[in-house]
Amino acid sequence: MDQNQLKQQAAEAAVKFIEDGMVIGLGTGSTVFYLVDALGRRVRDEHLQITGVATSSRTAKQASALGIKMIDLNDAPELDLTIDGADEVDRNFQGIKGGGAAHLLEKIVALNSKRNIWIVDASKLVAHLGAFPLPLEVIPFGVEHLYQRLAARDLKPKFRLDESGQRLLTHNKNYVIDLQLQQIDDPHALADWLDHQTGIVEHGLFLDLVNQVVVGREDGVEILD
Ligand code: 5RP
Repeated sequence: MDQNQLKQQAAEAAVKFIEDGMVIGLGTGSTVFYLVDALGRRVRDEHLQITGVATSSRTAKQASALGIKMIDLNDAPELDLTIDGADEVDRNFQGIKGGGAAHLLEKIVALNSKRNIWIVDASKLVAHLGAFPLPLEVIPFGVEHLYQRLAARDLKPKFRLDESGQRLLTHNKNYVIDLQLQQIDDPHALADWLDHQTGIVEHGLFLDLVNQVVVGREDGVEILD
């Protein structure tokens, strides 16, 4: 099985956690694409009443086209469940997200959800976080100074570029800086420091947020909780 089939397997197992009447947060990325597709089929075939809140315009567009009723987070009650992908997950369910530059909206939605489930293929499970570059969403104003501060702390910053070689712009017209750390020894300490740097809107460390991880493996789906 290739990586996409493992992602699809995880997504199709996780869609079963969604129940009629729920308000659901929908993440972003290729694994979530399979989830939304499977949810669309359930809504059609089982006539489920599901309300969705999206973390990106990509997800919102896909879900709406499949007949899932989408609302703004501001109009939603506390979400029953959010299902999202991840870039790395360790054995304590701490993770890195933001490979798709959507981690700001994803974290806001996750924090407003009673339960959070991540869907991943087995390659995302790691012993230590950090091999995947840690994304920061940053305000363009004064960003060169922030960049120098990150570099001086040896956090190995790199601006993320779009396909035309320009600095990538997020949904909120901010930049993304990726920290090429290789290994994060103390995720909570790093998150705390990043939380206090003015100009960083949000980082991609998602700590103590997730209740279950659904993993697509060669030999089937594993549910970690
Ligand atoms: C987007 C994310 C994604 O959830 C993460 O990058 C995983 O993506 P994929 O399912 O395509 O591997 O954090 O900001």
